[in-house]
Amino acid sequence: MKDTPYSEMTFDEFDEAVNPPPETIEFDEIVETALSRRGFLGGVISFGAGSFVLGTSALTPGSAFAATSRLGFAQVAANTADDITLPEGYSSQVVIRWGDPMFSGAPEFDPATRGNAASQETAYGDNIDGMALFEIGDASVLVNNNEYTNLKIINASGAPETDDDVLKGMMAHGVSVVEVARGDNGWTMVQDSPFNRRITPATEMEITGPAAGHDLMKTAADPDGVLCLGTWNNCGNGRTPWGTYLACEENFNGYFSSSDPDIERTDLMKRYGVNVEDWGYGWARVDERFDISKHPNESNRNGYVVEIDPSDPASVPKKRTALGRFKHENAEVVVNGDGHIIVYMGDDERGEFMYKFISSEVYAEGGNNADLLADGRLFAAKFNADGTGKWMELNPETTGMSSQAEVCINSRAAGSAVGATTMDRPEWVAANPKKAEIYCALTNNKNRAVKTNAGGDATPATGPNPRAENHYGQIVRLFPASADHTNDAFRWDLFALAGNPTVHEDAYGGSVNINDGNMFNSPDGLFFDSKGLLWIQTDGNYSNEGDFAGHGNNQMLVADPATGEIKRFLVGPNECEVTGAAMSGDGKTMFVGIQHPGERGGSHWPEGGDSVPRSAVIAVTRDDGMRLG
Ligand code: FEO
Ligand code: CA
Ligand code: CA
Repeated sequence: MKDTPYSEMTFDEFDEAVNPPPETIEFDEIVETALSRRGFLGGVISFGAGSFVLGTSALTPGSAFAATSRLGFAQVAANTADDITLPEGYSSQVVIRWGDPMFSGAPEFDPATRGNAASQETAYGDNIDGMALFEIGDASVLVNNNEYTNLKIINASGAPETDDDVLKGMMAHGVSVVEVARGDNGWTMVQDSPFNRRITPATEMEITGPAAGHDLMKTAADPDGVLCLGTWNNCGNGRTPWGTYLACEENFNGYFSSSDPDIERTDLMKRYGVNVEDWGYGWARVDERFDISKHPNESNRNGYVVEIDPSDPASVPKKRTALGRFKHENAEVVVNGDGHIIVYMGDDERGEFMYKFISSEVYAEGGNNADLLADGRLFAAKFNADGTGKWMELNPETTGMSSQAEVCINSRAAGSAVGATTMDRPEWVAANPKKAEIYCALTNNKNRAVKTNAGGDATPATGPNPRAENHYGQIVRLFPASADHTNDAFRWDLFALAGNPTVHEDAYGGSVNINDGNMFNSPDGLFFDSKGLLWIQTDGNYSNEGDFAGHGNNQMLVADPATGEIKRFLVGPNECEVTGAAMSGDGKTMFVGIQHPGERGGSHWPEGGDSVPRSAVIAVTRDDGMRLG
């Protein structure tokens, strides 16, 4: 990678280049890659120092599902078409694209310039990710994360050249709130709706919870450490039963840089990948707060879950520090039987942890729940190789830290202190609405059994992360003890190991519910529908070659948790990631995010010809008008 310009690297590659993990070590536990595929049928398999546990569903061969299948559509074939592919009987339309003006009078998207800072500030953001649909009165309000931008797509010249180019990129980040409506032309955005709002890296936000006011949160502009500007790199999302949206700050570190190349970075900066170089965005050039040599605490104010009230466009978003600071993927909210609010979360970094939050107060339907996420207990997951596990509480007593504020600012170090299990990049977590079980996509981890995480914690190939140099990913499932989400104890199994059974006969071929008809890599987005079916979205290798031959473009699949059956439902256009989903109130439309089509120059979706590729929200419906989920 050394000779590749930064601008042509993926996020992963760039992160690796500028922020390599501290050391390479060898483990005794490196997995025997000669594990026989037949060996999976044993349920619990031991190899090396560990073992791994497959769910019974992951043990059912693909051909055994036909008689019991709840997945009533003809699976689509993997492909590399620059288009959306759906099963027969389903259709899609584009609803909103990056750059579409949210207010009348604003200019239409200009493919020659790709807009400017002023036009982008009131236009739909870029790189659509997590989303949720809120029914507010008669209005359908779609809230959508705009995770990041591809410098080569958003800038006609391929890179930000002027200060306005940098500001345009900044304004394309954050969150877009728009009303949508279904009419003769299908679903469209309602321009000028009073709900329409852009939340950007310049929007004022309140810092709440244990970290508010801590010395590490204070800056020159905010000496009290309680107010900050903006949110960016919002990846997955959550929604609460009281009608708010949770935007999760993921790779926030890639926007900071240092004007002093010799700055001695703090341990906190090192653990979170805050570096002297940014990822090419150049934000410090237009806003000094992104210069860590001048404002060393600014980055401590990012990496949180942000709660947004979509019903009130004037509301001030709240950073919920009680939910911990890390590279948040999504925030899956569950109302426990006793009324406590549980939030399950992943830290999408190689070798980082899974987390759980339990609110101090309980949910009151119709009552004042506005600050339930301000106060509670935080835990990190520890998995044992025998299929049991424990949520380890993170507080000053268990971690040796000076205060809960420190736990909430340096949650990764807190997780290390209690011996939490290093995971294969925890992406989305989803809770089955039909029973007490939690699914987490562990997307991939090329460093598994190769390198420690940035905190020096070992990453042996065992437990829920059983494969060394894991480039396919897996989905782990947790069963809270006594079906009580506040219980510290849980059991776990592997719902699916992604892989390629046409290339590998060992564990890299995948679990038995993966076959040459449904194979995929890098599960990322997870989403349950009201029937209790699990939708799986991928953000992986789309080369369709070698280890990934036959996987095609990134895609969305559906799984039945009860049987383990998995079928491919949608294939996205070239070089995209399929991420984010929301169901309309009547269950007849599924909104899906198509992010970064053409990130390497190989797509003209959605308009075709030689058009600029644009991230977009699509609406998927059944041709017979029935419910999807
Ligand atoms: Fe933004 Fe972890 O994906
Ligand atoms: Ca993701
Ligand atoms: Ca991802």
